[in-house]
Amino acid sequence: MLKDQIRNLKNEAIGEILEAKSPQELERIRASFLGRTGKINQLTKEIPKLSGEEKKNLGQLINETKKNIEEALLQLQNKLSEKKPLENRFDITAPGIKPPEGHLHLVTEAIREITSIFTSLGFHRARYPEVEWDWYAFEGLNMAENHPARDEWETFFIEDFESEKYGKGVLTPHTSSGQLREMEKYSPPIRMINIAKCYRRQSDMSHAPMFYQFEGLVIDKNINISHLKGTIDYFTKQYFGSDRKSRIRPFHFQFTEPSFEVDVTCLICHGKGCRTCKQGWMELGGSGMVHPNVLQNGGIDPDKYTGFAFGWGVERVMMMKYGIPDIRLLFDGDLRFLKQFF
Ligand code: FA5
Repeated sequence: MLKDQIRNLKNEAIGEILEAKSPQELERIRASFLGRTGKINQLTKEIPKLSGEEKKNLGQLINETKKNIEEALLQLQNKLSEKKPLENRFDITAPGIKPPEGHLHLVTEAIREITSIFTSLGFHRARYPEVEWDWYAFEGLNMAENHPARDEWETFFIEDFESEKYGKGVLTPHTSSGQLREMEKYSPPIRMINIAKCYRRQSDMSHAPMFYQFEGLVIDKNINISHLKGTIDYFTKQYFGSDRKSRIRPFHFQFTEPSFEVDVTCLICHGKGCRTCKQGWMELGGSGMVHPNVLQNGGIDPDKYTGFAFGWGVERVMMMKYGIPDIRLLFDGDLRFLKQFF
């Protein structure tokens, strides 16, 4: 009987020890089973009542049971006081991990900057189709079919895409196609900045087969060359810096009369003349007073209204601002290059 009671007490004690969650709980179990008034000691009081041989056996069993319980207590005590591995801890004072941060592409940044310069002058940002009809890209801009001036634009024509009214389908070779579309959509006063992709069969250090142009168009009563010059100067100083100067020089475009090339003082020599520029000047792009035929084709009376237009390359102005030697760097997606500007 007593032996069974002792075995039951041992099982009870070990069961409680295994469930214990803290060192304090283990202390309570120790006191309850092994303490002076604990459950095991209560049983030892029965020993004197037993015969010699039984006394000896029971004494041994009690000592073994106490030893087993002590061992179980010790094991769990060690387990509970074991330190948690460092990686499982969370140090709130440690600095955070900064995830890699992206940014807009350089060309997108430039488009935004150019847009904001012109919108601050009251221009509105326009977008017109990149897959366009011959009429808008050439014919309506005073460049009849087979006119030699068209050669300059090295155009991609689209096979089996032709309209009876507007001619062949083309990938826009310049943003000037937006001029007629703007005139069809709005009546003067017009102040448009059309920024779009253009396509030409060209590829070298300064020419890409796909590039961006920004086209300005202003039409109103009494618009003259000084308005064009003032706008060019404003853009030059805002985009390139207040120390840069601009000039216009006579040129020829079919859709403007008179026509001009626009130059900006060189980034490197500031107008003195060096190896990278033409006697101190770098070419920005074309401009001129809108040709009366073009106004007429856009449904605007050339006797009442005059206007100016300009068309410049986004990548080219970036190359001139930052001294980028090869246009292809802007399209390669090489982060070592792109990250230099942020
Ligand atoms: C034109 O495209 C005219 N439509 C500009 C214009 C508009 C003149 C309005 C008058 C009035 P041009 O072919 O020169 O002109 O191109 C203008 C600019 O586009 C160039 O100065 C250059 O900056 C850029 N550009 C032209 N071809 C490429 C190309 N393949 N790659 C990168 N930029 C180019």
